[in-house]
Amino acid sequence: PAGADRDAEGAIRLGGVSTRALAAEFGTPLYVIDEEAAREAARMTLAAFRDAATRHGTDAQVYYAGKAFLSADVVRWMLAEGLRVDVCTGGELAVALGAGADPSLLGFHGNNKSMIELAAAVDAGIGSIVIDSFDEIERLGAVLDGRGVAQRVLIRVNSGVHAETHDFLATAHEDQKFGFTIADAPAAAARIREIAGLELVGLHGHIGSQIFGTSGFEESATRLVALLHEIGGLTTLNLGGGFGIAYTSADDPSPIADLADGIVAAVARACGGLGIPLPMLAFEPGRVIIGRAGVTLYEVGTIKPVSLDDGASRLYVSVDGGMSDNARTALYGAQYSARIASRASEARPQLSRVVGRHCESGDIVVDHEYLPADVAAGDVLAVPATGAYCFALASNYNYVPRPPVVAVRGGEARVIVRGESIDDLLARDVGLAARSIEGN
Ligand code: LLP
Repeated sequence: PAGADRDAEGAIRLGGVSTRALAAEFGTPLYVIDEEAAREAARMTLAAFRDAATRHGTDAQVYYAGKAFLSADVVRWMLAEGLRVDVCTGGELAVALGAGADPSLLGFHGNNKSMIELAAAVDAGIGSIVIDSFDEIERLGAVLDGRGVAQRVLIRVNSGVHAETHDFLATAHEDQKFGFTIADAPAAAARIREIAGLELVGLHGHIGSQIFGTSGFEESATRLVALLHEIGGLTTLNLGGGFGIAYTSADDPSPIADLADGIVAAVARACGGLGIPLPMLAFEPGRVIIGRAGVTLYEVGTIKPVSLDDGASRLYVSVDGGMSDNARTALYGAQYSARIASRASEARPQLSRVVGRHCESGDIVVDHEYLPADVAAGDVLAVPATGAYCFALASNYNYVPRPPVVAVRGGEARVIVRGESIDDLLARDVGLAARSIEGN
C-alpha cells in the first residue's frame, strides 16, 4: 500500500476494497491476499523462466512452492496460471489434492518424508519426488515394492554454494541437512537405478531463500550441470526457488526476468562448455509469487513513547497480533514497513516500533518505521509484503487464535481460510473437555 489507492475517507484500498471495511467486516488481525497481484506475479514468473528457456532452446516449468502460503484457492490460482505446485509434507499434499490439482503437476520434496507420506504421494500418482538421502532411496523403494507402479524421481543435490542470506534461509552450504553432496550424488543415482519402479529423471538444487543477486544461482547451476553430465541419462534440472522480494524501500531485488535470464544463461554456458543440450528446467519459487500479494491488517491498541539514550524517543505501537501471525521478525530479524491504513494523516513522522500482544520483548512486527505521530488506538495498521511465510509460520503462542485469510479482487472480498476461535483452541485440550462433561 505505499503510494496506495485510497477511498473517500482516506482509507487504503486493497483489490478495490477499503481496508477500513475489511477490518470492520472480518476483524483484525487479518491476512489479506490480493488475488490479482498473486496471479500476476505467477504469470510474470512463469513467463520470465519460459522466455529465457525458449531463447536457449529448452523449456521451463515453474512449481509454486506451497510452503510459502498454501490454501485451496491459491492452488487453483497457480494451476490456472499454468504453474505446477511443490509440496513438502503430507499436509501440503492433502491441500493440493483436495483443491483438485492434477497429481501429475505436483512435486514433493523434503529431507525426512515418512513412509506414510511417500505412500500417499505414490498412490496419488504424484508427478515427481525429490529424493533427499540414501535412507529415502530405500524407503521409497520399499513403498514401491509390490505396487507395480513407476515413480519419477530427482536427486536433491547440495551444490555447496553459500547463498548470501540469513543463515536459517541458506540451504546449500556444506554443513546442513538437505540433499546429497556432489560427491555422493553419482552413488545415489546408481542405487536409484537398481530399484525397480524408480525412474530417475534429473537433479534438484535449492540454495536458499530471499536471495537478491544471480551469482549464487549461477554458480550452483554450473555445478549441477557438470553433475548432470557426469551422471548421464538425465533430462531435468530443477534449480529450486529463493528469489528475493522487497520488504521495505531499502530492498532492491533484481527483477525476476533478469534473474531468469542470468540463471538460464549460466545453464546454457555450462552445457555449451560440455557440448551437451540444455535439460528441461524447473524452478520452485514461493515468496516472489505470493509475498507482495499479502498485507496484514491490525488494530492499534496501546501506544507508549519510550525515551532513547540519544534523547530521541520511540513510539511503541502495540497491535492485536504479533509473532503468532508473523514470526519472521522474531525469527530472522526480518524488516517490514507499516502504514496507517484506515485514514490519511499529515502528522509528522515519528520513530516507531510496531509490537505485538505476546509475552516477550522479541515480539516485534515492524522493528523500525516512521509512523504519523498522531497514530492512535483504533487505527487500522497495514503491514505489506506478508503473503509469504506469515500465515504459513503462524502459531497459537499464548493461546492466540490464528487470523482468517481474505482474498480481495475487483472490489470484492471473501474468506479463503477461516479464522480460529478460542473454542477451536480449547477443543483440543482433553482436560478441558473432560471437565465440561463432569460439570454438565
Ligand atoms: N524449494 C525448496 C526446496 C525450498 O526449500 C524452498 C524454501 C523453496 C523452494 C521456496 O523458496 P522461496 O522461493 O519461497 O524463497 N521461512 C523462511 C523461508 C524458508 C524457505 C524454505 N524453503 C522465511 O520466512 O523467510
